[in-house]
Amino acid sequence: MNTHNDNNNGKACLLVTGGAGFIGSCFVLLARAQNTYRIINLDLLSYAGNLENLASLADDPDHIFIRGDIGNGELVAHLLREYAPAGVVNFAAESHVDRSIYDPDAFVRTNVLGTSSLLRSCLAYWQSLDGPRRENFRFLHVSTDEVFGSLGPDDAPFSETTPYAPNSPYSASKAGSDMLVRAFHETYGLPTLLTNCSNNYGPRQFPEKLIPLLIIKALAGEPLPIYGKGLNVRDWLHVEDHCRAITMVLENGRPGQTYAVGGRSEKANIEVVRELCSLLDAKAPRAKGAYADLISYVADRPGHDLRYAIDPAKIERELGWRARHNFASGLESTVDWYLNNQEWVSRVQSGAYRQWLDTHYRER
Ligand code: NAD
Ligand code: DAU
Repeated sequence: MNTHNDNNNGKACLLVTGGAGFIGSCFVLLARAQNTYRIINLDLLSYAGNLENLASLADDPDHIFIRGDIGNGELVAHLLREYAPAGVVNFAAESHVDRSIYDPDAFVRTNVLGTSSLLRSCLAYWQSLDGPRRENFRFLHVSTDEVFGSLGPDDAPFSETTPYAPNSPYSASKAGSDMLVRAFHETYGLPTLLTNCSNNYGPRQFPEKLIPLLIIKALAGEPLPIYGKGLNVRDWLHVEDHCRAITMVLENGRPGQTYAVGGRSEKANIEVVRELCSLLDAKAPRAKGAYADLISYVADRPGHDLRYAIDPAKIERELGWRARHNFASGLESTVDWYLNNQEWVSRVQSGAYRQWLDTHYRER
């Protein structure tokens, strides 16, 4: 991944898809802060894509934003020809389990068909390369631990060898995309890399996911919906740790391999919500009562996986990756981010964030 290209201001270039979403924008911001890569950011700007996440890059000549679909083969082929990236990192996806229960087709369209089309475009591009550019090219697909299904309370954590057993339309569609990535490596030799990561948290997460949703509901004095008994367990990882893992896999991972990424930080949902409530009690106390008074147990998510946990021994051993954030301080800084960025929150709630492209990128 050290291939330089004269058309890209002397930097190696990456095509990043889904780079206006929660994790993709963190990856892009980190890469640009370190000035390591020129980024071509292809994002459809679905409801989850928010260009305000990338506001600090509006004048950065090494961040080029293109609104488009990973399934648009003509557009992707054009971008690959035009910018000749040294690698592709695919974050683009429909990512919310609850939405997948109501509209599975949207998940099949982007996660399965979109990834398949993206792989085909990348394969044609890779086959057109020669020498070190061909040798060094990488296609990294960002996936999830949910493809492995659900663990019992005493089961060993998921690892790279755990069989796939997805339970939601979301995880089934991600499993399908992972299988396509594997097949493109086995069948055509495309130098692919795959990461399966646990639950991320941190700034700029769309407030449909547990942590941002509950921070925002708590501050509005609304009930905090806990599915079932709140005893489902997730293995929480700060989004910056995930992005550092992706960079390390991209730069030093072995083609054809998968890497499980997780924070060794298992928590029952109710523990997470109680921690959130006490942080808010300290930082933004209610006029009367405690935030935990708002906790409200609601009907369970259908097919709700009981427990996820990751054994990240392979990426630690082979690539020297370690999570840097611990959950307590990571959660506190996340709460601080939402408290300090109420405008971001209210523009997401009102839908105004969707006008950012027209206002700030009209000339591009
Ligand atoms: P997100 O929903 O916040 O962002 C997804 C982004 O993809 C959005 O910007 C959206 O506009 C874009 N997009 C959607 N469809 C597209 C298409 N057809 N073409 C181009 N762009 C499209 O999701 P996220 O939480 O940032 O997750 C990113 C990736 O990481 C996903 O593949 C997800 O499965 C995976 N993942 C997420 C987590 C997590 O905890 N959030 C954990 C492990 C893996
Ligand atoms: O494990 C990785 C996955 O983590 C990613 O692949 C997904 O893209 C990401 O959305 C996330 O999936 P989850 O379903 O685990 O995340 P979510 O934030 O939706 O829910 C976390 C837990 O909290 C889960 O057990 C359901 C529960 N929950 C969620 C919401 C939104 C509630 O109890 N109440 C809620 O309102």
